Amino acid sequence: MKKLVKHSTESVLKVSNLTKDFSGIRAVDRVSFELSSGSITAVIGPNGAGKTTLYNLLSGNLVPTSGSVKLEGKEIIGLTPDRIVRAGIGRSFQITSVFPDLSVEQNVRVAVISRQRKQFDFWHSLKSDRSVNQAVSEILNLVGIETLAKNSVSLLSHGDRSLVEIALVLALKPRLILLDEPTAGMSREEAQRIVQSIEHLQQSTDCTFLITEHDLEVVFNLAESIIVMHQGKIIAQGNDREISNSSEVRRVYLGAS
Ligand SMILES: Nc1ncnc2c1ncn2[C@@H]1O[C@H](COP(=O)(O)OP(=O)(O)O)[C@@H](O)[C@H]1O
Ligand SMILES: [Mg+2]
Repeated sequence: MKKLVKHSTESVLKVSNLTKDFSGIRAVDRVSFELSSGSITAVIGPNGAGKTTLYNLLSGNLVPTSGSVKLEGKEIIGLTPDRIVRAGIGRSFQITSVFPDLSVEQNVRVAVISRQRKQFDFWHSLKSDRSVNQAVSEILNLVGIETLAKNSVSLLSHGDRSLVEIALVLALKPRLILLDEPTAGMSREEAQRIVQSIEHLQQSTDCTFLITEHDLEVVFNLAESIIVMHQGKIIAQGNDREISNSSEVRRVYLGAS
């Protein structure tokens, strides 16, 4: 599939020799990669490869044993998860939570307000602040969920709910968005909507995306660059053709050692 590549060669994230040991297990083993501005990169690999641990290191939920992570040239290792969000890395879970009984619009509003750190008259400002209203409708439009604005989140389909989570990440105004299996458990049609929405976001914002995903069809459609992890290490990196032609990747996915 043809991809619209609009990103520059400027690097947003530079990960160098990132390593995380748990007792007896090296979950992430000297991982190095760079993400260019505006790109979509997928991290794939079998269960236990180290994908979630890598995400936890990038978001500050885990402290690495060694290594460096620079966001736009600034070291973020050692920062708390909250500081990392403010530095510009948004993650699709653990950072923001969805309030199931509020509407889609109210959820996005709460996220926008918490980002703007409005302390005064919180509930009043929910209704009246024009800059908040503008940001909320912009985000709903960007993600393509404006028609769902008044719906309660608890009544949404799995796919729509995933789009709301992406909207909440956007409310943090991130430079880099980490999405962990955004299409997990979805039908092919739902997954396709998420893919289209992420592609639309790539084209209409200057965000960079790092996505884990086990559905290889989604990965090959969406990502310009694919990182394959196995036993904590990066075993291959490249475009869809390079990855599907890699004998090492095939061996890992066929389960042979
Ligand atoms: N908190 C932890 N304590 C000990 N071992 C862990 C912990 N988290 C992950 N691991 C181990 O690290 C390895 C990588 O796990 P994980 O990052 O969850 O992989 P993936 O997300 O690719 O399935 C696995 O062997 C897993 O058992
Ligand atoms: Mg995982």
